[in-house]
Amino acid sequence: MTALTLWRNAKLATLQGSTPWGWIEDGTLLTQGDRIVWVGEASALPAAQAKQVEDEYDLGGALLTPGLVDCHTHLVYGGQRAAEFEQRLQGASYEAIARAGGGIRSTVAATRAASDEELLASATRRAHSLMADGVTTVEIKSGYGLSEWDEARCLRVARTLGQTLPLSVRTTYLGAHALPPEFAGRTDDYVDAVCTWMPALHAQGLVDAVDAFCENIGFTPAQTRRVFEAARALGLPVKLHAEQLSDQGGAALAAEFGALSCDHLEHLSESGIRAMHTAGTVAVLLPGAYYFLRDTTLPPIDALRAHGVPMAIATDHNPGTSPGLSLLLMLNMACTLFRLTPEEALRGATVHGARALGLHDRGTLAAGQRADFCVWDLEHPNELAYWFGHNPCRRTIAGGLERTL
Ligand code: NIG
Ligand code: FE
Repeated sequence: MTALTLWRNAKLATLQGSTPWGWIEDGTLLTQGDRIVWVGEASALPAAQAKQVEDEYDLGGALLTPGLVDCHTHLVYGGQRAAEFEQRLQGASYEAIARAGGGIRSTVAATRAASDEELLASATRRAHSLMADGVTTVEIKSGYGLSEWDEARCLRVARTLGQTLPLSVRTTYLGAHALPPEFAGRTDDYVDAVCTWMPALHAQGLVDAVDAFCENIGFTPAQTRRVFEAARALGLPVKLHAEQLSDQGGAALAAEFGALSCDHLEHLSESGIRAMHTAGTVAVLLPGAYYFLRDTTLPPIDALRAHGVPMAIATDHNPGTSPGLSLLLMLNMACTLFRLTPEEALRGATVHGARALGLHDRGTLAAGQRADFCVWDLEHPNELAYWFGHNPCRRTIAGGLERTL
């Protein structure tokens, strides 16, 4: 039997139970291998388990939270789009740039031109930035390859990150992200191709979920439905970039397919919210994209809250709409821009982020959960959303092991 490790003298924000933050003032955690086996007040530690402890760490009264989950990123791509940022500052809209062949498609060209090694090296650097902030699980979408070959390359790089870094990686196939130039004027043919590639990508173990960009500059609800039907035929869960720039009814469509999450949601309607609630779909809020596009339409936070739709927070890291690599900064923005409470923001980047990926084994500090947790140089968890441009992450334990970067 693997030995037990004791982590004592910590303030725990377990996010478990009904008390604020799931707070435990003088907390102790026991781990065995990659799992948490016991969490509670130090005084309640069962004597039988205390006897089996082989390693013991005194955390000096530090704050502990679950490891952070970044449930929406586009981490694998070539090039960057700083010139497009300048164009937007001079008045060009994101949609106009996309319609003129820039935007996502310019990143597709740069991604196709990059070697596997270059894609892996740049994605590794980005993953390191996320990990420095305490991220222990990350979702990575394809969507800048847009051919079977290039989508497979990008998904393979994402899988490699999960194998080479102390980081859990979930991959999402986003073939329906934009129309590649070789399919110009043939969007339906491209949707057919996206669906045709899916079984082979899945057979190679490259796909954990399927996503699409349902938007007037992306794919219609009817086209999105076809992508979702192909996913369903393979038993793959779906997610959706929904109602970011306009209300396409994407959220209701995704909910019909039992989507894990609908993401962005600035233009989400009341009926979309109801459908998400009924389906148990998580609302993934992306304040970095809202901020960087200088958007002014807020997602309907109060209505999501009123309907009890769980809200997750993610970086949406990508070169066009959210080039940021700090999930903690997104917690701050979720509070300042979207008026989430600091506790909602932390739950959004832990337990609700995990649910948005269909993961129930992480996101809280509780027996049976993965031993993914962060030690912070902070007094109280509300400070996670308070400071910005400053990294208070002192240590990260991923799968029961101390992570060194
Ligand atoms: O999540 N909206 C679509 N996809 C990305 C942006 C991709 C890009 O501009 O390169 C997003 O915001
Ligand atoms: Fe995105």
